[in-house]
Amino acid sequence: MAQELLKITDLSASADEKEILNHLSLSIGRGETHVIMGPNGAGKSTLASVLMGDESYEVTGGTVEFDGEDIGELAPHERAKKGIFMSFQNPIEVPGISLENFIKTALELRSGQKIKAWDFRKEVKRVLDALAMDPSYAERDLNVGFSGGEKKKAEILQMLLLKPRLAILDETDSGLDVDAVRTVSKGIEEYQKDEAASLLIITHNAAILSALSVDAVHILVNGKIVKTGGKELIDLVAQNGFSSFEEEQE
Ligand SMILES: Nc1ncnc2c1ncn2[C@@H]1O[C@H](COP(=O)(O)OP(=O)(O)O)[C@@H](O)[C@H]1O
Ligand SMILES: [Mg+2]
Repeated sequence: MAQELLKITDLSASADEKEILNHLSLSIGRGETHVIMGPNGAGKSTLASVLMGDESYEVTGGTVEFDGEDIGELAPHERAKKGIFMSFQNPIEVPGISLENFIKTALELRSGQKIKAWDFRKEVKRVLDALAMDPSYAERDLNVGFSGGEKKKAEILQMLLLKPRLAILDETDSGLDVDAVRTVSKGIEEYQKDEAASLLIITHNAAILSALSVDAVHILVNGKIVKTGGKELIDLVAQNGFSSFEEEQE
C-alpha cells in the first residue's frame, strides 16, 4: 500500500448504549480511493461521523490515526483543519452567507492567511466550469432553498475548492437524477487528479463508480468489514446483494 494516510484499528463505537461499530479496521493510503458498501443500518454513516469526531457517538475501543497521529481526541473542526472533509447525507442550510464566502472563510481559517477575492473568484469559476455548474450557485446562500441535488453538487464544489487530504462522501449520490450524478461523478474525477488526495466513498451506486479508479472495496455488515477486494465486488453486490456476505460473517 501507498504510505498510510488514515489508519483505523479495531474501532468500536456506540450510541444510546447500542453498539454500532464492532472492532472495525481499515487503512487508506495516500492518493487511494476506497469504497464502502453495505446494507442499510450496517453502520456506514456512523463510521463517517465517528471519523469526523461527531460527539453523539461514544468510541468504546480502538484508534483512528491520520497521517501518523492519533486524532481520537480532536474536535470536528480540528479534524477539518488537518484536512479531513466530509459530505453529509443531509447538508445544513446557512442563511446570510454565500457558498463562495463560506468556502473562502473556511480556507482562510485553515491557512491563517487572507485570500484575495479576485483570485478566489477565478478559482471558483474554474471549478464551476469543470463541473458544468451554473455560476449563480456560488452566490446563493449556502444550501438555502437548494434542492436535494443542488445541495449534493454544492458539497462537491466545496470539496474541490477546500482541497482536503481525505474526503469522505456519504451517499453523495443518493436520490440524484442522471445529470446530478454526472456532476458528482465529474467532481470526483476532478478531485482524483490530485495524486495525493485520498477518498472514501460510501455508496450503493455502481454507476457512479464505473468511471472512477478504485483501489479497494470494503463490504461493511453489522459494524465490521467482512470482505475487502477490488472493483469486482461492486458487480458481485449489484448481482447478489449483501446476503452472501452476511452468511460469510457467521
Ligand atoms: N445517533 C444514533 N443514536 C442511536 N442509534 C443510532 C444513531 N446513529 C445510528 N444509529 C443506529 O445505528 C445503526 C447504523 O446506522 P447508520 O450508521 O446510519 O447505518 P448506514 O449508514 O449503514 O445505513 C442503525 O441501526 C441506526 O439506527
Ligand atoms: Mg447511511
